[in-house]
Amino acid sequence: MPLPPKPNPAPSPQQPRATIAVKAKAPSKVVERFFAPCPRGLETVLADELAALDADRIEITDGGVGFSGAFDLGQRACLWSRVASRVLWQLGEAEYRVEDDIYRIARDIDWPHLFAAHHTIRVETNAIRSPLKSLDFVTLKVKDAIVDKFRAAMNSRPSVDTSMPDMRIFVFLTEYKATIYLDLAGEALFKRGYRREGLAAPLRENLAAGMLLLKGWKGDRPLLDAMCGSGTILTEAALIATNTAPGLQRSFSFEKLRFFDASQFRAIRESSPNNIGRLEPGLLFGNDVNPAAIDTTERHLHNVVGATALKGIRLTNQRAETLTRPAENGLLLSNPPYGERMDELATLREWYPQLGAWMKRELAGWTVCFITADRDMPSGLGFKPGKKTPLYNGALDCRLFEFQMYSGSKREPKEKPQGGMPMEHRPGHRERN
Ligand SMILES: C[S@@+](CC[C@H](N)C(=O)[O-])C[C@H]1O[C@@H](n2cnc3c(N)ncnc32)[C@H](O)[C@@H]1O
Repeated sequence: MPLPPKPNPAPSPQQPRATIAVKAKAPSKVVERFFAPCPRGLETVLADELAALDADRIEITDGGVGFSGAFDLGQRACLWSRVASRVLWQLGEAEYRVEDDIYRIARDIDWPHLFAAHHTIRVETNAIRSPLKSLDFVTLKVKDAIVDKFRAAMNSRPSVDTSMPDMRIFVFLTEYKATIYLDLAGEALFKRGYRREGLAAPLRENLAAGMLLLKGWKGDRPLLDAMCGSGTILTEAALIATNTAPGLQRSFSFEKLRFFDASQFRAIRESSPNNIGRLEPGLLFGNDVNPAAIDTTERHLHNVVGATALKGIRLTNQRAETLTRPAENGLLLSNPPYGERMDELATLREWYPQLGAWMKRELAGWTVCFITADRDMPSGLGFKPGKKTPLYNGALDCRLFEFQMYSGSKREPKEKPQGGMPMEHRPGHRERN
């Protein structure tokens, strides 16, 4: 009887194991599963974006959307989604009872074939109704599983970097099920690369883009941000209007994967026609009372559309309530100060009626939208919102209020508005000539 082949002797510390062969091919599975988190309230907008990218099995949950497709769909979603915060690639999923079950799920994943040992990692665990006591312990177990898998395959292991890791691994636990994801984005996707400086309290880029999409703005009607700050809404609008991929100016962590094919990704980047630099003049209007805000807005817009197209964007520096309407009709979308402190709130309450009077005087025919954490803004303006959408600006629980400003009335309110829908905005009301 032939003897079984002798197992290879364990390598001594002086004799390192051979490094792992680089897998040149992308994952062979035809269908991969992904999950893209997004700001709460924008899940349906994200689902529409993913459908437009030909995603299958789209499942909307609170705070994100699950979807399926070939691996390159994950790359295209990173490049093209204006609303997703990340794109997570599902690597393992199974039922669990104790932490060691999760260790085994993580250990079954072929990490050394995905990235190199010199890459740094960060593991993060989130859970809904998990019976486990410590999520930090789960994080540690998954980190150990990754390190053990590397050690078994080669003589080195990735180290942990919690601030700027090369690879982010996300663990998500429900009551019974553990899912392990590798983040394909790297830095959050709202970091587009055009923001080189910050003023206080900028909106997240994906929230700004999501609100424009939620309001159906595709670059087909004038847009005014009357208090534009660093110009996030206008810059996202410029990207939408020119059909520019929001991720064009940044890199992604999938570019560090062993099987990453740079020429294939270049082809993906170059495959969609865009109109960068060709922005219709008279489409975008920005204003802020702070001159530094206008300088910053100008630089951000310059970063995405270039000097020539910038000339067609009108930026002004005055109080919003002194602007004259820039076009017959259009969309006003603004993020006013929301008054974190009591004294700020008092100033806002005095300002709102002036803003309401201006809307009435100048913006007949316009759709006016404000995102604010101040629930009392509509009554301060003196209008009842036609729509109000709950949205989160980071951790801040906000409302996007929409007011349809009908034409036909250019009068100032006679007295300080008391809230409620003015007569001429009520259904069925006809103003006499
Ligand atoms: C919350 S910040 C807007 C941030 C902006 N969305 C961004 O992403 O950077 C509010 C802005 O309103 C401006 N502002 C305050 N009162 C104003 C007024 N009466 N007219 C015009 N702008 C005003 C402030 O200067 C500030 O830039």
